[in-house]
Amino acid sequence: MAKQILITGGAGFIGSHVVRLFVNNYPGYTIVNLDALTYAGNLENLADIASRPNYRFVKANILDADRLDQLFTEYGITDVIHLAAESHVDRSIVSPLDFVYTNIVGTVNLLNTARKHWAADYAKHRFYHISTDEVYGSLGEKGLFTETTAYAPNSPYSASKAASDHFVRAYHETYHMHTVVSNCSNNYGPYHFPEKLIPLFIHNILQRKPLPVYGDGLYTRDWLYVKDHARAIDLIFHQGNVGETYNIGGFNEWKNIDLVKLLCKLMDQKLGRKQGESEAMITYIKDRPGHDRRYAIDATKLNRELGWKPSVTFEEGLDETIDWYLNNNEWLEHVTSGAYQHYYESMYENR
Ligand code: NAD
Ligand code: TYD
Repeated sequence: MAKQILITGGAGFIGSHVVRLFVNNYPGYTIVNLDALTYAGNLENLADIASRPNYRFVKANILDADRLDQLFTEYGITDVIHLAAESHVDRSIVSPLDFVYTNIVGTVNLLNTARKHWAADYAKHRFYHISTDEVYGSLGEKGLFTETTAYAPNSPYSASKAASDHFVRAYHETYHMHTVVSNCSNNYGPYHFPEKLIPLFIHNILQRKPLPVYGDGLYTRDWLYVKDHARAIDLIFHQGNVGETYNIGGFNEWKNIDLVKLLCKLMDQKLGRKQGESEAMITYIKDRPGHDRRYAIDATKLNRELGWKPSVTFEEGLDETIDWYLNNNEWLEHVTSGAYQHYYESMYENR
């Protein structure tokens, strides 16, 4: 069936992979990519599919309810996949309100617009909200987050995502909108903005800059290749049960310091540098306040119900990711010029 799908945040890291996958896999759908092009949005991420007949880009802000209303009418939007968000924990600690506006108010604006346009028959439409495992808070040494783990967000970012998840749930319960939510672990891969751990460290290794590890470096994250997240989103969008939540994760836990050492080793090999050269640049710096100790996802439900599992190992994914950054110097230069320098200094100097 033909669909006109609004994908929000499609010019960002994960959104660009989702847009590309849908544009390539579903020539019968129209993919409308709505993005405000904040510092994290970059149309270079989608240069390869920009002129495809089933793709449209609209520069708009999800805080602009009138514009959303007009776009739903103009494109006859049948479904939403909502990724637009402020996404970086460190920025949320500095400016929590930005996260309240985009992640909470923006999501409610979208829900209201969908509600207005789809009320005649909610069953014909789907609102898919993309969320994070960070809403569950922090784990101890053992255990995994499941879909029934109680929410316990610790950062302004995760609190704002948790609130948006609750609104999506409420629109299903109250208005019977056909919603679905997924909560994914940390992603990595091409087009990742170099404020997050892996791309920031790749960039710093290339520049021979210090590698700033927060606290004792023993924090654990569960890493998933971004293209496997996009594949999961495709499956859940088409086959996920209405009103349900799916956890997505790589069963791939790494302590930050071990991951950083592996990255240093691989980069030294690829760059023809002496082994140990990059590792010597590791610098322990002041910890992030409220830093969650450990995240780890139990993705059994998604595997059991929809047959999803990661398609690449961490070693393969990391290798592909490093190669992508080495071959896309121009992309990296563009995103790290201008405002990025100011961000980097304000976040990392004197820390
Ligand atoms: P990102 O920061 O790379 O991209 C966010 C995109 O949203 C950008 O293109 C930005 O321009 C756009 N945007 C921001 N505010 C907007 C607004 N008010 N109106 C319209 N567009 C706006 O983020 P990402 O890492 O690609 O994450 C995408 C989604 O996935 C987010 O909802 C995030 O919470 C979720 N998520 C991310 C991860 C991860 O590891 N990166 C893991 C799980 C879930
Ligand atoms: P990040 O990529 O910001 O993702 P999140 O906080 O959403 O999990 O950080 C991943 C881990 O790496 C987290 O434990 C914080 C740590 N980290 C550093 O040690 N140094 C850094 O410069 C950054 C950006 C993160």
